[in-house]
Amino acid sequence: MIAEYLRLNIPIKDKEFDMIYPAQLRKLSKRHFTRVDIAIKAARFLATDPKQRVLDIGSGVGKFCFVAGSYSDTQYTGVDYRKHFIELSNKLAAKHRFKNVRFIHGNITEVDFSQYNGFYFFNSFQEQIDNSCIIDESVEVNQENYAKFSAYLKKEWSKMPVGTRIVSYHTYLNQIPDSYMLVEMHFDGLLKCWEKTNNPISKLL
Ligand SMILES: C[S@@+](CC[C@H](N)C(=O)[O-])C[C@H]1O[C@@H](n2cnc3c(N)ncnc32)[C@H](O)[C@@H]1O
Repeated sequence: MIAEYLRLNIPIKDKEFDMIYPAQLRKLSKRHFTRVDIAIKAARFLATDPKQRVLDIGSGVGKFCFVAGSYSDTQYTGVDYRKHFIELSNKLAAKHRFKNVRFIHGNITEVDFSQYNGFYFFNSFQEQIDNSCIIDESVEVNQENYAKFSAYLKKEWSKMPVGTRIVSYHTYLNQIPDSYMLVEMHFDGLLKCWEKTNNPISKLL
């Protein structure tokens, strides 16, 4: 039912959407999972054509992919290093018949970026450097990981072809390579839409 509402563009409040999750996880939603209106805005920028394949870097319990995937035929893949999140995302995708989504368990450093043409990134590595962001104790966190994961992202994004799109939410400007140009900003600048260009005069023009 909830997937159908999204497909039909019927407005859904986050509190309503989050009822698909167990109570324990609902508590994490405000801080850690993308709001419905933000996911819709990001999806509009990322879904340039039906063949588009978008990777959600740190997909959590699937909220961004579920909402974004309902809006077009663009394929959304979520990757997360928390196995229990991926198991739940797959279960919920089947139960609620969310379309255009798939979820894989693993660290982002194991993912081949060349399979995708768009990326969504909600500051997933912050828990490595900020204790208040730790979701649970199931993964090891330390500053070296933050540097390693961020460097991998930047290296892979730098290799992507012109036209590649990134939507970043709550991220630092230095996490995006200079070859990407900022083309849209929303929600007081917290949601940034980037596109890889041949010759960016300035990343922020
Ligand atoms: C802020 S949550 C975002 C969830 C989802 N993208 C959304 O917006 O609803 C970040 C997620 O990234 C995952 N994560 C962090 N670092 C990761 C890494 N190196 N590889 C895979 N997943 C990672 C965490 O387990 C967490 O579930």
